[in-house]
Amino acid sequence: MTTCPQNWVIANWKLNPNYTLAMALLHQVEQQILPQQNQSCHVAIAPPMPYLAHFSTSSRLTMVAQDISTVTGFGAYTGEVSAQLLQSCQVNMVIIGHSERREQFGDNTSKIRQKLTQAIAAKMTVIYCIGESLAEREAGQAQAVVLAQLQDLVDVVKNWSTIIIAYEPIWAIGTGKTASPEDAQAMHAAMRHYLQTHTKYATQIPLLYGGSVKAENAVQLAACPDINGALVGGASLDVNSFVTIVQAFS
Ligand code: PGA
Repeated sequence: MTTCPQNWVIANWKLNPNYTLAMALLHQVEQQILPQQNQSCHVAIAPPMPYLAHFSTSSRLTMVAQDISTVTGFGAYTGEVSAQLLQSCQVNMVIIGHSERREQFGDNTSKIRQKLTQAIAAKMTVIYCIGESLAEREAGQAQAVVLAQLQDLVDVVKNWSTIIIAYEPIWAIGTGKTASPEDAQAMHAAMRHYLQTHTKYATQIPLLYGGSVKAENAVQLAACPDINGALVGGASLDVNSFVTIVQAFS
């Protein structure tokens, strides 16, 4: 018997907005989402790191860290935020491998593997981001790049029940250009197939799509059989757009 994966819609607020506006936005999202939240779609928010402790203890929405340190525990690591520190703030989910971190903040394969190892050892739920650049897609390498990034995950994961994967083509992030539902589904099917050859749990792993998900394209994306949710950047800062996206996946 195969179990359908749980759908997830996760808001990635990135470095937005300021604290006052963030509290107001969280309040609006809570008011709209909490009354209609059901078992078919989980909703989570990844706000900027400094807001996490307050939000996770005061809100009933699930909070997600946007990144994690390569080091474990506590100690003389100026500026670092470990899995254990996050957990002490009731945060048990983390995004790892986002292309903005890979491209602008030195998150190479080795660092990403260390971060995955830290999060997994602490039993945090990981949202692992993968995706190809425009040049890689135009060179016909999109699938090879994505599957190589997936292999980095396969190398370190033993328990797949705490893994969510987000396919985010880099050329679609923040650009307004979404992958067509056909292209996104094709990549998700390839990912699912790859996972099937490496784990018994492939059908249960949520595969999210990210990259200019909006109210206007969410229904079409949600209709794709291997798309189990969305990682939403820009549109998650607008409560009405975000709620429409959640409804599409519910
Ligand atoms: P976007 O960002 O929705 O603004 O394209 C998605 C992401 O980076 O997770």
